[in-house]
Amino acid sequence: MGRVTASAPGKCILFGEHAVVYGQPAVAVAIEQRISVTIETLDSASESWKIDGMQFEPKRHPHVQALRNRLWQPQMGAPNLTIRISGDIPPASGLGSSAALSVAASAALRTARGRWFNTEDTTQTESWAEGYSSQFANEKLYSIEDQEINARRKGEVGNANHYVADESIADVDECALLAHAVEAIAQGGRASPMDASTCAHGGIVLLSDSLESQEEYLYTRQLKMPEGERIWHLHSINLPLSTEEVFLVIGNTGIHAPTSHQVAKVAAAIEAHPERMKEIETIGMIARRGIQSLREGDYAAVGRAMSENQIMLQSLGVSCPELEDLIRAAAPTALGAKLTGAGGGGCMVALTTNPKQTSEAIELAGGRTLISKFGNVGLSIDETENLPLWATQPDA
Ligand code: MEV
Repeated sequence: MGRVTASAPGKCILFGEHAVVYGQPAVAVAIEQRISVTIETLDSASESWKIDGMQFEPKRHPHVQALRNRLWQPQMGAPNLTIRISGDIPPASGLGSSAALSVAASAALRTARGRWFNTEDTTQTESWAEGYSSQFANEKLYSIEDQEINARRKGEVGNANHYVADESIADVDECALLAHAVEAIAQGGRASPMDASTCAHGGIVLLSDSLESQEEYLYTRQLKMPEGERIWHLHSINLPLSTEEVFLVIGNTGIHAPTSHQVAKVAAAIEAHPERMKEIETIGMIARRGIQSLREGDYAAVGRAMSENQIMLQSLGVSCPELEDLIRAAAPTALGAKLTGAGGGGCMVALTTNPKQTSEAIELAGGRTLISKFGNVGLSIDETENLPLWATQPDA
């Protein structure tokens, strides 16, 4: 029996949620809390897929189902799997649990099936005979109808000559791209790549409407949304100064608010009152200022930008009294605080040099807290046994 375990961190947004869906800049940080996905082949071929010991129901796990369509098609001979999901990211709370799950699951599935290459050189994306990369056109990846995968890339069918099945073939860009596609489907066609890329790459990720020469460029993503095409340039931020002194304290209201509802609510508000696009643009301006303060290592100014961002999120209608209670409680001991993620419930985040005091204040106000340092590691393949779990054929 073969096995693969992969894990990915959750994320917390410092600036720009919601506005980023409309192309404005945003910054997200990978947190210490992670989701781990283990996949194993089932003993009996007749057993159907299982998740955490229960029969797999595609409607309950749309992210897993969408990944299965792209990487593990039963009609192409993929064996049935049992999946275990564990971790310490609370679900549906704005901390990227679904993106972390999608990133970890896509890495596990890719590692489990290996990859065909057109050349002996397996270090270059150009030599992939299959898979998804920001270097290839991937229009179909984002469509709900897409049941096909692994359209043969450069080499087309038959040229693939080299098969590798070990953890080296998992690719962060591929996992981030798949996770974004899956999030876009779950969010009714409107999703930025922020959660998926932060959970895949780890560290601190900056999305911008322009190329940022001071940061490390990752790739550019495009998505056709109901309101038109969006483009995001993604970068990894390497902070010039140490972040050892500052912490993120996350306070969970315990209220579940699906991202898709919150994103649809903002879209409906803008459709009804197009002048509200101004609020989105103001969030973009605040984010730009916050990004500059991050670059300068001025965390007091970063905190102020976060608090200003919260005022705009309130005005956009995505905050709620429970979030505001926790934000108010954190304020006296923090550099800044705001909701993080889609809002309407879920979590707030405070930037603080006094994590213990800030956490106690949030707990006293009724929130459950998590403390995280800045910029944690992204996707990792944690365990493999008896690879591949599915030895694909060159034309599979
Ligand atoms: C959710 O974590 C962040 C939102 O901006 C949605 C998105 O970026 O797709 C609300």
